[in-house]
Amino acid sequence: MEQDTIRLMNEAALLKQRAGKAAADSMVKSGMKLGLGTGSTAVYAVRRIGELLAQGILRDICAFATSFQTEIECEKQNIPFYNLNSRELSSGLDLTIDGADEVDKQNNLIKGGGGALLIEKLAAYASSQYVITIDESKLTDRLGSGFPVPLEVIPAARVQVTRVLEKHGAAVILREALRKAGPVITEHGNIILDIRLGMEFHGSAVTPSLMETELNQIPGVVENGFFTKNPPVVYVARSNGTVETRMIG
Ligand code: A5P
Repeated sequence: MEQDTIRLMNEAALLKQRAGKAAADSMVKSGMKLGLGTGSTAVYAVRRIGELLAQGILRDICAFATSFQTEIECEKQNIPFYNLNSRELSSGLDLTIDGADEVDKQNNLIKGGGGALLIEKLAAYASSQYVITIDESKLTDRLGSGFPVPLEVIPAARVQVTRVLEKHGAAVILREALRKAGPVITEHGNIILDIRLGMEFHGSAVTPSLMETELNQIPGVVENGFFTKNPPVVYVARSNGTVETRMIG
């Protein structure tokens, strides 16, 4: 691999690590019920929580892992995790820390690049406090301009949902798996359609909060990757070494 590419990858990992650590250090308190997100940024927050538990700085954490990836990381870090129906978590989550694919100026999000959007949304909307950790490359003026919006769709609805989306003006790509022939199959047995939206959908301007509701009205769509209904505090790691905290309202 080119030296420049390796250097850029290391720098990106460092920023993700800074964001995750800053969020864990300042937001997580002993006794909390925590939602733990998925992806290459959220994992740093999970690791930091593991460190703080091992050092005895944090105690009595009950976690909810949003994917197999996060469950495995919790196992490595000795973070006890439960499902949301369990007695331990039935009263909801105090705080969820996750990553995102894009964040706009209102702290609306696109998530689901790692295919975990369904359970990530469950955690996001079950949490009193919601924190997103990103490096600055995830900031955007318009959601969807750089990253497609993922939709989790039941396999039986693939063609029908694609037809509806295309009729309304979206470009649709079935997410293909790596090292397995055929589509990505989510942890819930569904497929993912990555959609590109123009400025309009179904004749109306694309507004993330409206789109979040509208996309879920299409039969066969289980969930979509717009996250607009629980605005997070966003920890943005900048390449100048700072971590900025951004809150709306
Ligand atoms: C997982 O499905 C996603 O929502 C991730 O949280 C998101 O894709 C960000 O991942 P990275 O931190 O790996 O970019």
